[in-house]
Amino acid sequence: MTRRRIIAGNWKMFTDLEEAVALARGVAEATARFATDVDVVVIPPSCLIAPVVSALGESHVGVGAQNMHPEPRGAYTGELSGPMLTSVGCSYVVCGHSERRHLFGETSEFVGTKVAAAHRFGLTPILCVGETLEEREAGETEAIVGEQLRRGIDGLTKEEIAATIIAYEPVWAIGTGRTASAEQAQAVHAHLRAQLVKRAGAQVAEAVRIQYGGSVKPSNAGELLSQPDIDGALVGGASLKADSFAGIVGA
Ligand code: PGA
Repeated sequence: MTRRRIIAGNWKMFTDLEEAVALARGVAEATARFATDVDVVVIPPSCLIAPVVSALGESHVGVGAQNMHPEPRGAYTGELSGPMLTSVGCSYVVCGHSERRHLFGETSEFVGTKVAAAHRFGLTPILCVGETLEEREAGETEAIVGEQLRRGIDGLTKEEIAATIIAYEPVWAIGTGRTASAEQAQAVHAHLRAQLVKRAGAQVAEAVRIQYGGSVKPSNAGELLSQPDIDGALVGGASLKADSFAGIVGA
């Protein structure tokens, strides 16, 4: 089965309104010629999703959120819900980014409730998993990401699993300029797919798109994306310039 590639740019907390609108337009223009082959997604700060959606108009670029709360509404000061996100034209949501896990204390169980809620409310979740340097050096990578995956997709139907995007992002490679080698990344992706086979069967596992994230740039994207189990990239720093992001999409 050939899985359609998906390249997503996580803008984190780096753009104001003017920058976000300009970057969205730049990305749409610079990636237009790849639109038939690749899914392109931008993930702006939440308060800028609506203006980015309107700046993108009818373009091929999808829009995602960096986080959401699993409940549809309620007294959760400072939080945003799935129905709110879809109401402004958002179609993807990142769940359990390592910055959410490590800086804001999100547990794998809580991340799993977000993934399930995303499906319930019509959003495509991008479930992030990844080990720290300490865990890698202790030989725990497969156990850590396997457990994050297991809890992240807990309770999902097979159809929902097939429609979930997984992002393998080794914590030591995020924003550090230090990328996992293509072999290191492929090994973990293959492990994740093997776990998916056990959980949901080969057909579902073959359908799941697994992105790599962590210091992806135009210069290393080609090698990473040529690995058999790497189906896309979740890009931070290099997604903040339309040219470098388009370079990754082109790869
Ligand atoms: P980076 O971030 O590309 O800047 O390493 C990746 C991410 O956090 O998704």
